Amino acid sequence: LKISIIRSELLVMNKRVLVVGSGGREHALGWKLNQSPNVEKILYAPGNGGTENNRSIKPTDIDGLLKVAEHENCFTVVGPEVPLGEGIVDRFQEKELPIFGPDKQASQLELSKVFSKKFMQNHGISTANFRVFQNPDDALEYIKSKELPMVIKADGLAAGKGAIICRTLDEARIAIDRVMIKQEFGSAGNRVIVEDFLHGFEVSFIGIADGINFIPFATSQDHKQVYDGDLGANTGGMGAYSPVPMVSEELYEMILNKIMKKTVNGMRQEGRAIKGVLYAGIMICNNVPYVLEFNCRFGDPETQPQLFRMKSDLLPYLEASADGNLQSLDPIKWESGSAVCVVMASGGYPNAYESGKVIHGLNDVMKMKDIMVFHAGTEKQGENIVTSGGRVLSITALGRDTQDAVDRVYKALKLIRFEGAHHRKDIGNQALDYLGEL
Ligand code: AMP
Ligand code: GLY
Repeated sequence: LKISIIRSELLVMNKRVLVVGSGGREHALGWKLNQSPNVEKILYAPGNGGTENNRSIKPTDIDGLLKVAEHENCFTVVGPEVPLGEGIVDRFQEKELPIFGPDKQASQLELSKVFSKKFMQNHGISTANFRVFQNPDDALEYIKSKELPMVIKADGLAAGKGAIICRTLDEARIAIDRVMIKQEFGSAGNRVIVEDFLHGFEVSFIGIADGINFIPFATSQDHKQVYDGDLGANTGGMGAYSPVPMVSEELYEMILNKIMKKTVNGMRQEGRAIKGVLYAGIMICNNVPYVLEFNCRFGDPETQPQLFRMKSDLLPYLEASADGNLQSLDPIKWESGSAVCVVMASGGYPNAYESGKVIHGLNDVMKMKDIMVFHAGTEKQGENIVTSGGRVLSITALGRDTQDAVDRVYKALKLIRFEGAHHRKDIGNQALDYLGEL
C-alpha cells in the first residue's frame, strides 16, 4: 500500500505540460504553470527565444504535436485559435490524450462572426445591430442607408485585424473592396458582418468553462490600436492591464450572468459545449455591456497581466475544465494590486517589418522585482536574443495600484533596446483617467 501511495504521489508531482504556440500569452501560460507544485516540466511547441524545452513544431502540425504529447506524456494547453479551429482537441480526444481547449464545434464561436452574431441574437445576448452580406454591392447599399460610422467585419479569422471602422462612405467602399473583393483575409471575407458602431469603453471578460460551469478571471483591458490615444490600425494588442476599475460590481455581475453564463448554457443547448476559455470582447455603452466578439482562447496580451496577478495554481483549473469538473474548485484568488503589460513591437508593425534585430538590456530588467519580460517574436541566435516577429516582447509589472504598475513597467521598458522598436506610452491611461490620477 505504501509503495502505491508513493507512486501515485510521484505521478501527481511529475506532470508535464505542452504549451502550443509562440506568443507572449504562451510564455506567460508556461511561466505560470511552471510554478505549480505538480508540474515537473513545461515544453513549448514551438515556443520562442524566452522559453526553454522548445520543440520546433508548428501549432497547426497536429500530427507532430500528438507525437510529442504522447511520447512525453503531456497535458496539452493550446494557446492560439487556429489549431482549435482545425480540430486539435478532437484529434487529441480520439487518442485519449488530455488537452485544454474547446473542440471544433465549440470553437465556431470565435471562428465565424456570422455564427456568433446569430447565436447572440437567438439567445438574447446584447450585441450591436447587424446584417450579414455575401454581396459587396448589397453591403454598400445597406451602409448608405445607415448613419455613419459603421463597422465592417470579415466573417472568419483575421488575426484581430478583420474589423474595420468606416467613418465615411469612401472608407466603407475601400473596406468592402479590401475584405470582399481583394480578399485580404482570404476566404474569411466571403461573408461580412456590417454592424452599428458602439460608443463606450472596452473590456475583455475572460474565464474558463467546462461545458456547464464557468469560472471568471480578473477583468482586463486590451489596447488594440497601434498608436497612443487608440489611433491607427488595429493590431493583435499593444498592451493590457488588470483589473479594470471602471467595471463596477453591478456591471461585473451583469456581464457574468447575462453574457458569460448565458453563452456557456446556450452553447451546451446547441450541442457545442464549451470546454476551455470563453473570452468576450465587450463594449460598455451607458453602463450596458455589448459583446463585440467572442474568442475561445486566452487573450494576448491580456493573459500576461492576468496571470501576473493570479495567486491560485492555474493547472487545476485547466485540468478541471478538460475533465468537466470545475464545480469542485474554489474561485480563483488574485493579487489585490494591478498588473500592467506593454508590448514592444518591431518597427513598421502591424504592417511590414524587419526581423533579426539584436535585443539589448534583457538581463538588467530580469533582475528587477515584480517585473517579467514575456517573449513573443524573439529567437536565440548564438549568445543573442534577436527579433523574429511583429510583437516582440511584453513587459509586465505588478504594482500596488494602476499608477504604481504603470510607473514600474515604463521604467523597465526604458532599459530595453532594439533597432526600430516602438510601443504605446498610454497603456492604463483609461483607468488612471477614471481614477482621477491622470
Ligand atoms: P473585433 O475583432 O470584433 O473584436 O473588433 C476589433 C476592434 O474593433 C474592437 O476591439 C473594437 O475596438 C473595434 N470594434 C469592433 N466592433 C465595434 C463596434 N460595433 N463599435 C465600435 N468599435 C468596434
Ligand atoms: N488581445 C486581443 C485578443 O487576444 O484577441
